[in-house]
Amino acid sequence: MSLGTVGLWLYRNGGGERIQRQIVEMLKERNIACVTGLDLKHAQVKNGKIICNDTAMDDLDAFLSYNAGEQTPYQRYLYQMVSQVTPTINNFDSFAIAEDKFQTSHLLTLHGVRTPDYRLCGRDDEDGLKQALNDFGGRMIYKPIDGWGGSGIVKIEGHESLKTVLPFISQTDLRYFYLEKFVNYDNTDFRVDIVDGKFVGCYGRKAPRGEWKTNITSGGSVFVREPDQEVIELAVKAAKILGLEVAGVDIIYDREREEYVVLEVNTIPAFATPEQEKLGINFNSYKIDALVDLLERTVHYKAREQTIKVA
Ligand SMILES: Nc1ncnc2c1ncn2[C@@H]1O[C@H](COP(=O)(O)OP(=O)(O)O)[C@@H](O)[C@H]1O
Ligand SMILES: [Mg+2]
Repeated sequence: MSLGTVGLWLYRNGGGERIQRQIVEMLKERNIACVTGLDLKHAQVKNGKIICNDTAMDDLDAFLSYNAGEQTPYQRYLYQMVSQVTPTINNFDSFAIAEDKFQTSHLLTLHGVRTPDYRLCGRDDEDGLKQALNDFGGRMIYKPIDGWGGSGIVKIEGHESLKTVLPFISQTDLRYFYLEKFVNYDNTDFRVDIVDGKFVGCYGRKAPRGEWKTNITSGGSVFVREPDQEVIELAVKAAKILGLEVAGVDIIYDREREEYVVLEVNTIPAFATPEQEKLGINFNSYKIDALVDLLERTVHYKAREQTIKVA
């Protein structure tokens, strides 16, 4: 008999399918069963159970939610519920904070982790926007708090540019604006992957020539990059503050302040794709090992908890 069952929902593109096979295989060797494809979009709630493809989510010993595809509000709502009943990686509360750029920056700053200077302004606070631009030395970025892939991010340079952007942002139905000082950096970053409090891998990303956004979806390219100890420690600390079991911490070097700053913390950082592995980005096996260890420990913990309850 297996020691327990882990539910998985992993992305399948970019080599995800193979990663999933490896995780399933390794868990099987440790006598842990897996149910894959648990996309909560298809789940139904009836008679006190959340049922997804015939699996009762509440009966799982652990659930790994690892699919960066956009979640429907329904799906997200169920993720929150599942996370309260079944040990879920990432746990929903930390996931929700990390998905929000303002909450992330604020929490990190409160706990002594450096981020770019940031502001939050009410939607009608035109003066606040102007003030921020002055305080930030004339260059700032407007970011959707829950954006990804670099989309929706607008650079505002000087008051003329603010005037042009204002009608556009005030047309949105947002209630507040999140702003960051535009950091003077070399247009490269570190993506540092942390699993279970441990450093498992790093690579660099570089913005296309003449551009400043490093996202792959904005045309950025990846390269092999060894982080120094300071970068690793910053990433470990950021993941810990947010309470994330799995994190991909984006770090850049601020040339003005002469220090590293955390830009954001991703909750579903991609494994290296087969093409990236060919470039020498080879952290997948460390990351899989750390994830499998974490899942195994979670299953054992849950089993012990149940034994205690019965006793
Ligand atoms: N404050 C900033 N100063 C300079 N560049 C930035 C700043 N914030 C973000 N960027 C650039 O924009 C990219 C996308 O920003 P990020 O906050 O990571 O949002 P997303 O979730 O869309 O990836 C970053 O990878 C970085 O290259
Ligand atoms: Mg990013």
